[in-house]
Amino acid sequence: MGKKTIEDIDVRGKRVLVRVDFNVPRNKETGAITDDVRIRAALPTIQYLIDHDAKVILMSHLGRPKGKVNEDMRLTEVGKHLSTLLGKPVTKLDDCVGEDVEKAVAEMKDGDVMLLENVRFYPEEEKNDVHFAKQLAALGDIFVNDAFGTAHRAHCSTAGVGAFLPSVTGYLVKKELAGMGAALMRPEKPFVAIIGGAKISDKIGVVSYLIGKADTIIIGGGMANTFLAAQGHDMKASLVEPESLDVAKETLEQAKAAGTDLILPVDVTVAAAFDAPETAKSVDIDAIDDGWMALDIGPKTIEKCVEKISGAKTIVWNGPMGVFEQEAFAVGTNALAKAVALSDAYSVVGGGDSVAAVKKSGMADRISHISTGGGASLAFMEGRVLPGLSIIDEREE
Ligand code: 3PG
Repeated sequence: MGKKTIEDIDVRGKRVLVRVDFNVPRNKETGAITDDVRIRAALPTIQYLIDHDAKVILMSHLGRPKGKVNEDMRLTEVGKHLSTLLGKPVTKLDDCVGEDVEKAVAEMKDGDVMLLENVRFYPEEEKNDVHFAKQLAALGDIFVNDAFGTAHRAHCSTAGVGAFLPSVTGYLVKKELAGMGAALMRPEKPFVAIIGGAKISDKIGVVSYLIGKADTIIIGGGMANTFLAAQGHDMKASLVEPESLDVAKETLEQAKAAGTDLILPVDVTVAAAFDAPETAKSVDIDAIDDGWMALDIGPKTIEKCVEKISGAKTIVWNGPMGVFEQEAFAVGTNALAKAVALSDAYSVVGGGDSVAAVKKSGMADRISHISTGGGASLAFMEGRVLPGLSIIDEREE
């Protein structure tokens, strides 16, 4: 069994509707694309379809236009960049459904590439409206979902169209499933998970899922404060989620019962205020001054984590260890990024901040798999069924 891919279906001469995730970061003033990783990641699928004489109709969202046309969120620049990368024309349309779009599609020749306008200009898209899904599906003979980054959304272009067309995955989704699956389904031990980020509520799903699977779970970032507070430490002015204290306690108990070593900071880098990096200093966890707040893991914690990471055979990482945006509080995240890159483990990194940290360390090429998914990689690490993948046809074997 397994999901069908583009190689399992005859695409020659067919109109192939491909959902890609071209939700790329852009410069706020100029609109210029600042990181084209997601566009490049879609190229193998697009090139395969071109080489196999398909008519390639691409659809994506960009940003969160809330169901309205937003001139700053058109896919025009993306289309131009894609054309440069492919070395061939890409016809960018100003809409994604309707008569004009249908006419343009009908005029396509085999091997042509077309990019529809931002599907989120229609409120129906995010509602997974059946009529809108049908309209999109009418543009193709086959649906290819290669938008791993959006696979956790049950929207028309990611899931809804699957009800009306034979549905397969592209190479990016295949690569992500293999890359992340290798770490989570058959981890070679010791298996170390590093989970960070500001809020427990965002990451508790992944921590719970990994208890009993991972040998060690390193917890950093703001969410560590709530765990520490649940253990009785006085975190002073640090971000603590009082409503998550019980969940934190239960999680600590579950980890203990399952034999998973849950590592929390033993020291932290604190500051007098969030925007006062010049006051940064490292202190033991029970020595935080009144009114000060923990904003990164401290050197003793880093040492402990690096030791675990160095001995690991499998590592998954999602979320920064501190307020990574400020240099003074990026020390923990950067040190762990380096340790992961230098380890001999099979390593998977997902989530925007941790991916950025690994790239910044200059050793991204030493990571086994860097996911293009933020929320999607987190959902996958929680063991959740991704709606954009559940609609893909199963291979008969
Ligand atoms: C992402 O950037 O994580 C994906 O493109 C999904 O975007 P969304 O969070 O706006 O659905």
